[in-house]
Amino acid sequence: MIIGILTSGGDAPGMNAVIAGACDEVERLGRRAVGVRSGFAGLASRHAGPITALEARTHMHEPGTWLGTSRWLQLRGEHGRAACREAVEALELSGLVVIGGDGSAKGGRVLADTVPVAVVPATIDRDLDGTDLTIGVDSAIGYAMDAIDRLRVTGGSLPGRAFLLQTLGAPNGFLADAVAAAAGIDDVLVPERSYDLDALAARLRELSMTGAAIAVMSEAVGDAVRIAEALAERAGVRVHPTILGHSQRAATPSALDRALAQAAGRAAVSAVSRRESTFIGLASDGAVAPVPLARRPATPAVWTASSDNQGAIT
Ligand code: F6P
Repeated sequence: MIIGILTSGGDAPGMNAVIAGACDEVERLGRRAVGVRSGFAGLASRHAGPITALEARTHMHEPGTWLGTSRWLQLRGEHGRAACREAVEALELSGLVVIGGDGSAKGGRVLADTVPVAVVPATIDRDLDGTDLTIGVDSAIGYAMDAIDRLRVTGGSLPGRAFLLQTLGAPNGFLADAVAAAAGIDDVLVPERSYDLDALAARLRELSMTGAAIAVMSEAVGDAVRIAEALAERAGVRVHPTILGHSQRAATPSALDRALAQAAGRAAVSAVSRRESTFIGLASDGAVAPVPLARRPATPAVWTASSDNQGAIT
């Protein structure tokens, strides 16, 4: 029995630990693992080869994905789907583990009529229904928190200025909200809520002598440089934009993400070995909670953001 493993969409910290957990389970069950390179695009072109648990372990601590990934829009069309189905047969895969976000889960579901598929949610956006956590979010939050800690240091050492930190996470503000909540920052700009630039500028001016004049914004809100300029003009103090950009996606995988990821990888292989197509839900207490892929709950994800601009994972 050969199990294919692929990563798809934007890379997320912890994807390599999912691959490692999956390979461990494959070998424990006496099966063989095939690593598919570059996501569904690589699957369609049959760019795949055997991988071992030992090899996967050497990448476990690294962010990104050593198998490579892609955003492959052709999977939405019949031609791309047929190429993937044919590749599954040509590679003699009897199970497929798909590691990625919402688009990747959709891709996995498309192939579930050809081969048992297990989807492991891994994205810093946490944009999937049916799971409390996604692999990568904790690391991405930690990375931004570290940046904020450093802004506090420089802000406190050389008072009189303010900072606007921009996170990834478009098109929604989940990641910015989660970062602000974790860092104890009240001022956060996300597309889901309106904000008052004059009031924010006044607060930043007030705090600018303390080192705590820090606001967080989601990239989904717009251009950080322009918003920082608008704030500076209103506040009468310098407002420095700090754009985390794609470096946030390459955060070092946290302990939580590594542990969750390995457990999810093992559960995914265990499911496809039983010939079950499964969505590997991750509960907020860190438990792995697989549900059938086709009957994945369509309820909204459990992230909530309260009206006072603070969020919580419930
Ligand atoms: O994978 C999710 C994500 O990192 C978003 O947070 C971000 O907006 C987007 O991907 C960036 O996409 P790309 O890597 O294609 O520029």
